[in-house]
Amino acid sequence: MKQSAVIGRIPANEKPGANGRHRQTGSADKTSGWKLQSAELPASKMPSWGWKQPHNLRGPLRATPPAHRCSSKVLGGAYPFLAETGDILTGAYIGENLLSRAPFCFDPWDAYSAEAVRSHSVAILGVKGTGKSMLAKSWSSRLARLGRKVAVPHDPNGEWVRVAAYVGGKSISVGPGKAARINLLDEGARDRSFSDEDWNQNVLQYRRATVKTIIRRLREGGNLEPVEHTALDVALDALRGQSTVTITHVYDRLVDPEQSQPLEVVEAGHRLAHSLRRMVSGDLTGFFDGPSTVRFDADAPMMVVDTSALKGASPEAQALARLATANWIRRSSLGANRQARVIIHEEAAVELLNDVSGGDGLADRVEDEKVARHLGTSNWYLLHRVADLDALGDRNSALHSRALGLLADCETRISYAQHSGEIARSREILGWNDTQADLVRKLHKGEGLWQIGQDRVAKVRNICTDYELGIFRTDAMGGERA
Ligand SMILES: Nc1ncnc2c1ncn2[C@@H]1O[C@H](COP(=O)(O)OP(=O)(O)O)[C@@H](O)[C@H]1O
Ligand SMILES: [Mg+2]
Repeated sequence: MKQSAVIGRIPANEKPGANGRHRQTGSADKTSGWKLQSAELPASKMPSWGWKQPHNLRGPLRATPPAHRCSSKVLGGAYPFLAETGDILTGAYIGENLLSRAPFCFDPWDAYSAEAVRSHSVAILGVKGTGKSMLAKSWSSRLARLGRKVAVPHDPNGEWVRVAAYVGGKSISVGPGKAARINLLDEGARDRSFSDEDWNQNVLQYRRATVKTIIRRLREGGNLEPVEHTALDVALDALRGQSTVTITHVYDRLVDPEQSQPLEVVEAGHRLAHSLRRMVSGDLTGFFDGPSTVRFDADAPMMVVDTSALKGASPEAQALARLATANWIRRSSLGANRQARVIIHEEAAVELLNDVSGGDGLADRVEDEKVARHLGTSNWYLLHRVADLDALGDRNSALHSRALGLLADCETRISYAQHSGEIARSREILGWNDTQADLVRKLHKGEGLWQIGQDRVAKVRNICTDYELGIFRTDAMGGERA
């Protein structure tokens, strides 16, 4: 790469703009007028006449202050808001910080260790086509190269399959016509600290909660009666000794309980079985009701579940697919498989809105956030707008505060361009000042305002190589740059 100097005099023999173009000072490396050699200084793309912007006083007549060298810490104090303080964050390279022109890197775990944030979670907000997925793909694949693990439990457009292949990860396609099956009730990776009895209890609780969630969704939010809870417990208890338990097994036990039970429990079991029937012999058959045919590879740098084949499926099938894949990845990342893992929730708003029957989807996410720090996961939520969360439930309702609480849990918030009508509300929720709101108004594609913890702000342009762009782009242009 061509090096160019940042600070220094213009050499006597260089006439700025003499060739009709704004020349780079790097061309002056060979001249003797330089006190500081460009190789000693950080590279800059600054044209010799300065940046072409209004009020920049560009021109050949310029101040020629003597070259001065000091530490970035001192510069940060002398030029607050312009120079980086030197207290930089480490991690994968994302692009250029347009406020300081410094390279910008970020890693949720490093930022947490540096006490810049109090959670690992990240919210990426912006209207369609602004570059949210591009950021998530470039950032996560670069983190994967640094040894972090990445999982995408629900890829509705199948756009992550190529990313997984690019970093040497794996992808699984589920849905009609696909061979892969995921068992919703898989016990997951065992935590070595659990005794046999504790682990059995843990698995039982997990299965109970999952079957209840499925039934609630299939009943469109209808809750279980107390006697139905009993019937479910009896059925799950009868399956305790079995190594693999599937929804079909639970269904069979509900229809035909082994031990003699009071009539009302048997009847309640039948009611539950009716609700579950769609899973085993209705329109949802075959996706998630049998034993798993695929294995979660905890050592793969990236695991992607491609759910694009479910595009035309019913909303229930889609909601169950999200539940199945998210749970499967969560359970598989426990115990011995526990390690720093990024979990990317593509199109999270759609997911949350669709699963909102009783707020289950959101409750799962909020619950997940509570344990995320303990599990070492960093959840990234890709949202179209704050209004999607804001619209959940009435203001002051538990659901609404849960939705905004999820955003508050994300201590790293990245705002891409938003519709002008939504800036006021986003500003209120995300706490932008006038300058920051103005900045978001003027963002271009691939640029975002980063709010990191309480007091760090950066405006970052996500820079990708042409090769990366070829793999990550989603527009119909194919190989063409948008
Ligand atoms: N940082 C970037 N550099 C170059 N092109 C970009 C960048 N970010 C986005 N794009 C272009 O914009 C398109 C849409 O981006 P995408 O990330 O899919 O948007 P979103 O997920 O917000 O809907 C991409 O396919 C790509 O062509
Ligand atoms: Mg996208």
